[in-house]
Amino acid sequence: MQELEPSWPGDPRRELAAGLMQAAAQIAPKFFYDRLGSALFAAICQLEEYYPTRTERAVLSHCGEDLATVAGAGRTLIDLGAGDCVKAERLFALLKPQRYVALDISADFLEASLARLRREHHGLVVNGYGCDFTSDWALPDEVPRDSRLFFYPGSSIGNFSPEEARAFLARLRANVEADGRLLIGVDLVKDPATLVAAYDDALGVTAAFNRNVLLHVNRLLGADFSIADWCHVALFEPVQSRIEMHLEALRPVSVSWPGGGRKFSAGERIHTENSYKYRQEDFAELLTLAGWNSVRCWTDSRRWFAVICARAA
Ligand code: AVJ
Repeated sequence: MQELEPSWPGDPRRELAAGLMQAAAQIAPKFFYDRLGSALFAAICQLEEYYPTRTERAVLSHCGEDLATVAGAGRTLIDLGAGDCVKAERLFALLKPQRYVALDISADFLEASLARLRREHHGLVVNGYGCDFTSDWALPDEVPRDSRLFFYPGSSIGNFSPEEARAFLARLRANVEADGRLLIGVDLVKDPATLVAAYDDALGVTAAFNRNVLLHVNRLLGADFSIADWCHVALFEPVQSRIEMHLEALRPVSVSWPGGGRKFSAGERIHTENSYKYRQEDFAELLTLAGWNSVRCWTDSRRWFAVICARAA
């Protein structure tokens, strides 16, 4: 696996320790995706409560030829957060990409996906890179600059605050020529009960996904979190229009790692994720501010999820 950035660029120990030492402790959501975390996320996507994946899939499957007309065929398809690569793969027949470039924070998991893809799509040029989108990044020179189509599905953009999202979208714009395009999935605001259920499923898969971050932190930081001390919390914060996930201490907890440590009182939380939910018109404005013209928006009948195609402005 070629790495655009090391899988955990910068200094993950320092970043994790700093986050844990803050008055309101936090762990960045990118740390969810170790091998098991990526597998748990794939399981979340199959849950009844987790509507984004299947809604987006349905929206994309109903675009038909329209999608190829608007997004363009024969391009370099650049998959941001490719994971198992299945979402992009479903578009191959329609978009007939020249080349497929997969980026993911979990280089390990991506490697296995690309091996499969190469077996099943002879003749397609496939590149993979481990990449942290929250850091400084640019595509390597070996990826042709013209005719790029960025694919950012699943409403992963929701992990960024609106200001960060705008900066991220501007970075994408800086990584394409005048012919560049973007196909992006965005989760829309809806009733809070539906939103919360999607992040607090009855089977407890999302809880496992959230709590697993502590096992990853134990390995990366050498910390001694005990999973049994922490429970999953998901809530909708209407003012910022975001789902928040936290880990809540069930009892007083003392955690240590080489060079540091911290005590948590019972009920104290570690903030692990934000997932922003947009109104369609607000997201279109964000795109404009970032140098993109949104040219088409497809959505489902309940308007739960939008797939937007934008062209470089
Ligand atoms: C991968 C960021 C789109 O926010 O819905 C799913 C991650 N977290 N369940 C989301 C996630 C809990 C997901 N994204």
